[in-house]
Amino acid sequence: MRSEQLVEISRKKLAEAGIENSRFVVLLLAKEILSLSEADLILKKTEEIESPLANRYLAAVERVASGEPIDYVLGFRDFLEIRLKLSPSVLIPRNETEEMVETVIANENTSRVFADIGTGSGAIACALASHIPSAIVYATDISKEALTLAEENARKNGIHNIRFIEANNIEGLGFLLERVEVLVSNPPYVRTADIDSLDLAVRNHEPQIALDGGEDGLDFYREFFRHLPRGKKVYLEISQYETEGLLRLASKLKGYCYEFRKDFSGNYRFMILYPED
Ligand SMILES: C[S@@+](CC[C@H](N)C(=O)[O-])C[C@H]1O[C@@H](n2cnc3c(N)ncnc32)[C@H](O)[C@@H]1O
Repeated sequence: MRSEQLVEISRKKLAEAGIENSRFVVLLLAKEILSLSEADLILKKTEEIESPLANRYLAAVERVASGEPIDYVLGFRDFLEIRLKLSPSVLIPRNETEEMVETVIANENTSRVFADIGTGSGAIACALASHIPSAIVYATDISKEALTLAEENARKNGIHNIRFIEANNIEGLGFLLERVEVLVSNPPYVRTADIDSLDLAVRNHEPQIALDGGEDGLDFYREFFRHLPRGKKVYLEISQYETEGLLRLASKLKGYCYEFRKDFSGNYRFMILYPED
């Protein structure tokens, strides 16, 4: 089949399925699967694509048309210049999380021991470990499948300063918690009742364990604050709807001051805690 025919079929299929950004999807799939750039699609439009490759491309289009997120279809996502393999057992890393990690790297590059709690694909841990090579990063998750993938992601990116630990919240770090200087986490924070109103792509494809924060969305933070020792720097991703609840929880903490920060869309998305002087 010629590349122009493939593009035409996929445009039609995606448009019929009501997929937003169908042009972007076509270009991305062509680049990643057919190794054809936007210019190639014009200059080499009559080029014959071999059947196995054309079929792979069309199967990917079909999956996107059925509502699967393109990152799962491609099987990877780039996070602060690190290519992360993805599977349905991990959340697709978000741009907001990149923003949080950029702040951590800028503020904490002289710290030596970090922990990424709920590492998923390993996005936060890999980015910290690769941008601060003198650091050691403990990356934890309660999902074995996530940890296996996160380890693979670190290995494939040549990152060796991460230790992976199956553990529940910060309590699961045990004696290691004492050594950690900076705690970073993007935990599950969607209220259980709100899961049904999430985008279908999220609700049907991303793991529940990565999303569901319990009745008020605060289950993870409640446990986290209960076990938080004095003297740590803490960077948490949060939901804009939970700042009041988080204020209530944090007001019981001793030895900390804290602030909320907005993301690039103007929503409160991060909570940062510092030890009081
Ligand atoms: C929102 S995802 C974030 C994944 C990744 N850090 C990122 O930012 O893309 C939350 C992760 O926390 C893990 N998780 C959920 N509850 C946890 C708990 N109590 N202790 C440790 N990890 C937990 C989930 O398995 C999931 O991988």
